[in-house]
Amino acid sequence: MEKYKFQVDILDPNNPIDADKLVHLKNNSNIQIFDEIESQLLEYTKLFIPNEKSDKVIENAKKQYFDTGNKNNIGVWVYYPWNNHLVHLLDENKFIKLRTARNMYKISEEEQIELKAKKIGVVGLSVGHAIALTIAQERICGEIRLADFDSIELSNLNRIRTNVKNIGMNKAILTAREILEIDPFLKLTIFDKGLNTQNYSEFLTETAQLDLVIEECDCFETKIEIRKKCKNLNIPVIMHTTDRELLDIERFDLEPDRPLFHGLTNLENKTNLKNLTNEEKIPLVLDILGINDASDRLKSSMLEIEQSINSWPQLASSVSNGAGIATHVARRILLSTHTQSGRYYFDLDEELDKNQPTSTKTESNNLNKSQESITTNKELVKDISANEYEFSCAKKIIIDKNLSATVPIIKSKISECIDCANQAPSGGNIQPWKWIIHNDLVFLFIDKSRAGIFLDINYLASHLALGAAAENFKIAAEKNGMTFETIYPDSFPCVAIFKQTKKLELTTTMPDLFNEIFKRKTNRKKASKQEIKTSTFSKLTTACESIEGTKVIFKTDPSDIAELSDIFAESEKCRFFHKQCHEEMYNEIRWNKKEVDDSRDGIDIDTLYLSNLDLAGLKLSKSWSVVELLKKVKGGKGIESFSLKQIEKSPAIGCIITDKNDPLSFFHGGQALEKLWLTASKEGLSLQPMTSICYLLTRLYLKPETLPAWLKKDLLSLKNKFTPIIPHSSDNGLVLLFRLFYSDQEPIASLKRPVEKVSQFL
Ligand SMILES: Cc1cc2nc3c(=O)[nH]c(=O)nc-3n(C[C@H](O)[C@H](O)[C@H](O)COP(=O)(O)O)c2cc1C
Repeated sequence: MEKYKFQVDILDPNNPIDADKLVHLKNNSNIQIFDEIESQLLEYTKLFIPNEKSDKVIENAKKQYFDTGNKNNIGVWVYYPWNNHLVHLLDENKFIKLRTARNMYKISEEEQIELKAKKIGVVGLSVGHAIALTIAQERICGEIRLADFDSIELSNLNRIRTNVKNIGMNKAILTAREILEIDPFLKLTIFDKGLNTQNYSEFLTETAQLDLVIEECDCFETKIEIRKKCKNLNIPVIMHTTDRELLDIERFDLEPDRPLFHGLTNLENKTNLKNLTNEEKIPLVLDILGINDASDRLKSSMLEIEQSINSWPQLASSVSNGAGIATHVARRILLSTHTQSGRYYFDLDEELDKNQPTSTKTESNNLNKSQESITTNKELVKDISANEYEFSCAKKIIIDKNLSATVPIIKSKISECIDCANQAPSGGNIQPWKWIIHNDLVFLFIDKSRAGIFLDINYLASHLALGAAAENFKIAAEKNGMTFETIYPDSFPCVAIFKQTKKLELTTTMPDLFNEIFKRKTNRKKASKQEIKTSTFSKLTTACESIEGTKVIFKTDPSDIAELSDIFAESEKCRFFHKQCHEEMYNEIRWNKKEVDDSRDGIDIDTLYLSNLDLAGLKLSKSWSVVELLKKVKGGKGIESFSLKQIEKSPAIGCIITDKNDPLSFFHGGQALEKLWLTASKEGLSLQPMTSICYLLTRLYLKPETLPAWLKKDLLSLKNKFTPIIPHSSDNGLVLLFRLFYSDQEPIASLKRPVEKVSQFL
């Protein structure tokens, strides 16, 4: 049975043994006989008299050429055991000549003969199926070796052109059968167990070495292994990827030292590439494809793998294109008319959209012009040279408020205090503070060039950050035996003024929380299971609520935590799906050490502790058009599950709320947050803010008109879920939601800008 799976019997009626078999077959009623030898003889004859129009002349020529008594003995009979078909065909050479006649002169006769001696191996017969059939149809080789362990599934039939009755059949056997039904004289070897350490050499060199390998499999280990072996054997490899019609040519025959995959990835140094889930494959696929080069549709689809779809999309049109492109390039390589290695895009959309009026360009462009236009404020204040603006504000406040210092300040001590203030948390680590010291008064400003993003409604999140910074400033001052009166000038962007009230005096008393200032960090790592004692919660509550008008709610009940996690995950998705938020969120990310060291602000990618998969997801959704497509297909589960993964197992979630939701309340909220966070740090606790829900709801309460309809609808439903767990009214300030947990690993510290960058003595 095995043998018949894909091999045919080519029977020569003039050979007694075959003639015998033929008799049996023809007497077997289950056998279907196809005998169109007449038309083949006629066509073949015409090859030699292409300009002859008279059927009579042609008929005569045919008689002369093929004048035998019994037509049944002309040519061969091919028996297909898998469908019991018996087909009468010309003998091999005449069959090949006639079947390739319409290749001429795109392929010359000499080239056709040269190609007949070539051997091609195809690994992976999903995309490879169409390529193998096109190679066979164009007959650009005489032998094909087919490897694939997988069987046909119904979901393959969106791109593998075959009959539904073949569901369940091994892809290598199926491809072999379909090739032999086009050309039974092609020499085929199949590897229906796929490739493995035992049969690589059989596949590559048995009887004779392959001239070309076409690699189309999904197994990364095989992708690496086959290339390593081809490199050693100097066999060229090509690979078609069904995204943007990408074709890779690796001429290991002409460039024996060529790095695998053009040196674009270091896959070959990676281990345990076997049996990866589709999700685990994503970072590797992107490694090969190049995250910036993949199409938007593929990127957004990648984000939905094992969320709303099982695997990445592959379209029939692209598989068919790939078959054509790969066969074309294979022919050129085998005829040595193309020698370059490299990566080639035959991107139809790019070509089609070239001269296309923008309105009909592929959807991503359209979507870019959606309603959510951006007003970045960076341009607004760029031209104001450093601090001049704030200096003039400070001078004006001094006059307006008739302010004067009573105790002269000591520059170095103030800088020390500002350095402590600098360690404070801020959304996106944007550090929106600026210190102007003038006339022995310390002015704390919101640096508008760094503030005012969509989530920083009315600069509330910035006021919070300044509150936290101010708290550190005061603790540091106390450590240095200085005390300051805080004045709130209510003249934005100046938020607070510190007037020293007591001369510096040497003191031994170390303020309780001073040592935590440089220890406190946002921790985005997984929570350990350790529970938090009630006594610890009361210490945190005392610290926070020592600031008037603030309160903190802690939730430890697992169902509340689960509900809050879901709410947070949905709000993170809303943030992703809002164009301005998306852009501002990505502006905050520092992708490598150079960016981190150069800016000393923003979110250092390493502090997110992303898995390869999550990092791939974050990179994939960097371009807005990808997220827009995701939104269109109601995707984004990946974003939610990433957020949920961060929070899972956290023993407590807290929320700081202020009586009012005005800027000063948020400033005090920031002071309360810092006191709570430093206390938490002292208790060995880790904390991670989870704020999108707070600031999106605050925008719903304060500026609903600035929300697109879809976001308003989503936020109203989130509000209805959030409020029962975290009771508050729209007049309250939702300062910060955060998770609290013990972690057995110290997180990476976020860099802060140096004192001289955030302050100036004038
Ligand atoms: C208003 C505000 C919102 C924040 N939101 C988040 C958040 O949603 N997710 C998060 O991981 N960290 C958040 N953070 C933490 C900051 O990213 C962090 O404070 C900043 O990167 C500086 O790092 P550090 O806290 O370790 O000093 C927030 C901080 C503040 C003050």
